Amino acid sequence: MIESIQHRRSIRKYTSAPIEPEKLQSVLEAARLAPSGNNKQPWKFIVVQSEEQRRAVMEASHNQTWMMTAPTFIVAVADMAARSPSDLPIYVDENSPHWELKRAIRDTAIAVENLLLEADAQGLGTCWVGFFVQYEIRPILGIPNNKFVLGVIPIGYPAEQPAARPRKPLSEIVRYEKW
Ligand SMILES: Cc1cc2nc3c(=O)[nH]c(=O)nc-3n(C[C@H](O)[C@H](O)[C@H](O)COP(=O)(O)O)c2cc1C
Repeated sequence: MIESIQHRRSIRKYTSAPIEPEKLQSVLEAARLAPSGNNKQPWKFIVVQSEEQRRAVMEASHNQTWMMTAPTFIVAVADMAARSPSDLPIYVDENSPHWELKRAIRDTAIAVENLLLEADAQGLGTCWVGFFVQYEIRPILGIPNNKFVLGVIPIGYPAEQPAARPRKPLSEIVRYEKW
């Protein structure tokens, strides 16, 4: 496991080779099996492959043009309805204070990390893209306003092999027994 974790990189240049359907299924399956609070599984994934839709999503992602080199995007959506079945009239965006939303985002983030690692294990590259705003990206994909788009993940065969990006040492981030 640590090998996939060490080997994964954010990839921002892809070949034009399409992803084999079974590999895509395997990556989605890794997301499906993620743990979540109360096992609520508050996530949805939208697979986007058409040129037109990818372009619209890319433009909503502050025009990160490198994204278009990836043949497929997976859009991860945190869905509070899985926790609060009632159609809550709540305001969902980057400033939303709602605890249920935070829990759905937390759980969906776990699923996305599973997805990134399985993609690496399948020889695929990914990059979590989070630079967009909700009210611009949701309408492109027909996502209701009470869902939170957590990330767009371009996925495909890497056309670059970046070196590992730096991480803080354990001595800086781990404490023992108390803060
Ligand atoms: C929540 C989140 C949002 C991110 N958003 C973007 C983004 O919009 N564009 C981008 O190029 N990279 C984005 N990244 C990738 C990070 O820049 C990258 O993970 C970090 O620099 C470490 O590099 P590594 O993934 O290769 O280890 C995002 C990563 C995360 C986890």
